[in-house]
Amino acid sequence: MVTGPASTMPADGDQPMPFDTSVAHIARVYNYWLGGKDNFAADRAAGEQSIKAFPNIGLSARSNRAFLARAVHYLAGEAGIRQFLDIGTGIPSANNTHEVAQAVAPDSKIVYVDNDPVVLSHARALLTSRPEGATQYIDADLRDPRQILDEAAQLLDFGRPVAVMLMAILQHIDDADDPYEIVSTLMAAVPSGSYLAISHPAKDIDAEEVAKMAVALNRMMAEKVTFRDNGAVAKFFDGLELVAPGMVQASKWRPRTQAEADSPAALWAGVARKD
Ligand SMILES: C[S@@+](CC[C@H](N)C(=O)[O-])C[C@H]1O[C@@H](n2cnc3c(N)ncnc32)[C@H](O)[C@@H]1O
Repeated sequence: MVTGPASTMPADGDQPMPFDTSVAHIARVYNYWLGGKDNFAADRAAGEQSIKAFPNIGLSARSNRAFLARAVHYLAGEAGIRQFLDIGTGIPSANNTHEVAQAVAPDSKIVYVDNDPVVLSHARALLTSRPEGATQYIDADLRDPRQILDEAAQLLDFGRPVAVMLMAILQHIDDADDPYEIVSTLMAAVPSGSYLAISHPAKDIDAEEVAKMAVALNRMMAEKVTFRDNGAVAKFFDGLELVAPGMVQASKWRPRTQAEADSPAALWAGVARKD
């Protein structure tokens, strides 16, 4: 579904969707960590178990959202990007990608992608594009990057730079599904001058607590998690040029205030340019 002048499909994000509420799902657990209301008992139980293991997970999730906003602000502003492919969107929250990008550049076009029917059921909130720009929502799995690229081409011009955003999603692609190949396929489809923005839960920040949280999440959630260390996350940026300050703890990427810089964040994060 697409909104804005480039619309090619009707917006139908208000259709009721059937989903299993008996098992925890990451979009809803993440919503719980962020203090949202779009979650069910199983999600809250998984959320609580992970808070027990890693008490800073709520602050860490907020740091991730703050990084997302700063990265989009940089991309739409300094980097001059007008097209965004945001995969693993999540349930709409404060500072959704199109809101941040279009506040800087109202003509920005944003394609959102998620595979969770709960996120799809909230898609209407993501389709509130400014008239100068456009947004689209695709119900698809990151494991099928070709489908994502084909559908995104309804709105995005792949002859012009695109920012590919993979914020806190790659941990749901385990090594057997070759996440590096998936990222390469996405970046091969975009031209020089495009960007890759990633945040990824870290295995080597607050390592002991984070390892306990991974065990709790993998016991309770439908999607399993693979947390990665600095070297494994840095490998996603191979062949690209990281912009300053490089790949760092999410809270240390161009923080706007000392409070942002000091906020706990068990994630590696970076933004890189394709030459
Ligand atoms: C932790 S949330 C992150 C949300 C948002 N990107 C952010 O950083 O605030 C992860 C999101 O990725 C989605 N997701 C997980 N695995 C996915 C997959 N294989 N394909 C598409 N979306 C996926 C989940 O449904 C969820 O909405």
